[in-house]
Amino acid sequence: MPAPIEPASIELVPGAPLIPPFGIGAWQWGDRIVWGYGQGGYTDEDLRAAFDAALEAGVNFFDTAEVYGSGRSEILLGQFLKDSGQRAFIASKFTPLPTRFRKQALLNALQASLERLQLGCIDLYQIHFPPVLFGDDRWLEALAEAVQRGWVRGVGVSNYSETQTRRAHARLAALGVPLRANQVEYSLLERAAERDGLLKLCEELGVRTIAYSPLAQGLLTGKYTPENPPPGVRGRRLPAARLAALVAFNALLRDVGDGYGGKSAAQVALNWVISKEAIPIPGVKNQAQTISNLGALGWRLSPADVQRLDQAARELP
Ligand SMILES: NC(=O)c1ccc[n+]([C@@H]2O[C@H](COP(=O)([O-])OP(=O)(O)OC[C@H]3O[C@@H](n4cnc5c(N)ncnc54)[C@H](OP(=O)(O)O)[C@@H]3O)[C@@H](O)[C@H]2O)c1
Repeated sequence: MPAPIEPASIELVPGAPLIPPFGIGAWQWGDRIVWGYGQGGYTDEDLRAAFDAALEAGVNFFDTAEVYGSGRSEILLGQFLKDSGQRAFIASKFTPLPTRFRKQALLNALQASLERLQLGCIDLYQIHFPPVLFGDDRWLEALAEAVQRGWVRGVGVSNYSETQTRRAHARLAALGVPLRANQVEYSLLERAAERDGLLKLCEELGVRTIAYSPLAQGLLTGKYTPENPPPGVRGRRLPAARLAALVAFNALLRDVGDGYGGKSAAQVALNWVISKEAIPIPGVKNQAQTISNLGALGWRLSPADVQRLDQAARELP
């Protein structure tokens, strides 16, 4: 078990929670299609142990969404939190479906999330993706209203481009509410947020970047190879050549990790995200994965190693 880190500073600034520097993703907690929940690989007790191990180490930021497992993720998270008797920093997300028209739809969805989570207030409530058909003005107005009603402490967006982030930030500012975060895919294998200038913009605006799929959905753990591809849909969309190239890349991550007392490929990959000032939220299925991922905390890759990894990732086919 790694040394405990400082607990999230959620009580330091009432009404304006800082986002903790590391979180745990809970998409796996109920999702059958991508992650195989309920199909024998991991149980609710495994998830509870994953949750408890994080709290024990002082990591109390959990990311969920109304859509994960059709609400199952929020229900499990709410139950684990209640049973722990502790406080945590909970982030959830609103799904801006084209069938949802009115501002009230967000407030209703938020109420349903609060009920499943057994909470009176969510620390970070995010719009899951930019709406495809209509603009997001009514959702941003609804987020501001949710803050005023005390149902939400901070608001965020997810999968927003640079232009969309700039606009949402300005629109929310006009409503008197700061945009706290943009949650986007970001890892050694997915660098679009860097190339598009999104990370830089977020830094300028004081918006935190939350990095989802920081382990590239397991590919940066080194356990998947052409002979042992990820199960289910994850494996089906992966060319064997990509997996073959990743064998050497993960060996490099382990090699770098050796210089820090034997850090694993996953720990190096997560530390790389932290070194870019983004907040990784690796998804976990059991206690061992939580404990292993927490080994990314309490140390820092040197700038030279970050550069070496940047370069090697760029050269991947
Ligand atoms: N906003 C969005 O649109 C969006 C999209 C995706 C995800 N997210 C959020 O981001 C979180 C993280 O992303 P993600 O779950 O897609 O991908 P990820 O964190 O890159 O990968 C998680 C998966 O990697 C494997 N894993 C994790 N730690 C491991 C370890 N130490 N050793 C070995 N295997 C390990 C597990 O799967 P296996 O054991 O099956 O390999 C786990 O389910 C999600 O849970 C969710 O909260 C948000």
